[in-house]
Amino acid sequence: MQSAIAARRNVLNWRDVLSLECADQLNPIVEKIIQLKESHPANIAVQCFDAEYFSSLDSGLQQRLLDCMQSGIDNPESEMGCYACQADDYDVLRPFFAKAISRYHGQDSQSRHVSDWTIPDGDMLDIAEFGLPPLSLRIRVGRNFADLPLTSAMTQQDRTSLEKRMADVFEQLQSNPELAGTYVSLTPGHPNQLTQQEYEKLVADHVMFKAMDADPYLISAGIAGDWPHGRGCYYTPDHSFIVWVGEEDHLRIMCMKTGTKLKRVLDQLHSALQFIERSAASPFARSQDFGTVTTCPTNLGTGMRASVHLNLPHLTTGGSLDKVKEIAAPLGLGIRGMGGEHTPIGPDGTVDVSPRARLYITEGNIVHRLYDGIGQLIKAEQNLSSH
Ligand code: ADP
Ligand code: ARG
Repeated sequence: MQSAIAARRNVLNWRDVLSLECADQLNPIVEKIIQLKESHPANIAVQCFDAEYFSSLDSGLQQRLLDCMQSGIDNPESEMGCYACQADDYDVLRPFFAKAISRYHGQDSQSRHVSDWTIPDGDMLDIAEFGLPPLSLRIRVGRNFADLPLTSAMTQQDRTSLEKRMADVFEQLQSNPELAGTYVSLTPGHPNQLTQQEYEKLVADHVMFKAMDADPYLISAGIAGDWPHGRGCYYTPDHSFIVWVGEEDHLRIMCMKTGTKLKRVLDQLHSALQFIERSAASPFARSQDFGTVTTCPTNLGTGMRASVHLNLPHLTTGGSLDKVKEIAAPLGLGIRGMGGEHTPIGPDGTVDVSPRARLYITEGNIVHRLYDGIGQLIKAEQNLSSH
């Protein structure tokens, strides 16, 4: 434990580094970050903040960095604690982001991301081989247009023009029988505006995203700004293909299906994504080293989350996730609730299982990791049920 005097000295040292003469000239936000470094060792953004680097930036770039860190400062319990505001923040503020990315994704900053959607040996990754019935399978990717600010920095006009841009793309999707569907909007006055009741039903059906103005991370980051303007969702009648507009990323593109063959969902998503990329008039943002650019650094690389709803009553007895997380973590899997991130598990012990890795892993390997993990979790569940 650091003594109060030593802590005070530390603060003075930081002030020296920042070349500021007296306390009231110190940017109060920087002072708060310095305090959070002590109190919140798990907040990656705060831990990766380097006062020397900060003081080397001009005032515009200093503000740009603080904008990216706002959510982690307002919510000290954050794990990542930052979001990009412009697609090139990852390059322009590289000394900060490379450190934070390496800390979260667990590789050094020399690595370069490679995309590859193939599954070796043409394996279907069929979970029926584990004796499982058809389950709810979902794979999504985040994508952002290179010529627009990220959702954390968009004006209301940017948000509605994104929605208009996508209207043209959705029009083109009508010519593809597998992707033809309907666009519904939350924008007040939009011709396809949903009623509150219709919106809640689509959220409950896992088609539409949750209200963003209830999420403290998204509020602080500016990502929930102007809610619900420019927000909407495109979906096919069977809900097998869905595109979210204006959530955390400009687009979240996903395929969802009750089935057993993971490769089939992966292939469907890949061809839908290629169709969208061709139909959209402008390219998606990419970084040479970090692959697909996403607003949250946790999603960089592939932007992909592949998940299954898996019933694990013995591993979740009493509604506790401790046991299942203990087994899932070394397999590289994360456990979420039935409504997605930050929601509780199902009353029958059903959880959302997905590989945590998104960067420095291929799309094919993410799905392979999910398949292998399902096999391991089911084995552990069966071991417990037979005792
Ligand atoms: P994301 O997957 O985009 O990171 P969330 O974790 O919030 O975001 O999940 C978004 C929605 O997708 C939630 O309604 C969640 O229940 C649903 N979902 C995720 N995985 C599956 C799945 N395998 N089957 C059905 N719905 C799913
Ligand atoms: N900002 C939150 C944190 O740092 C969530 C990060 C991951 N989730 C997300 N939806 N991007 O803990």
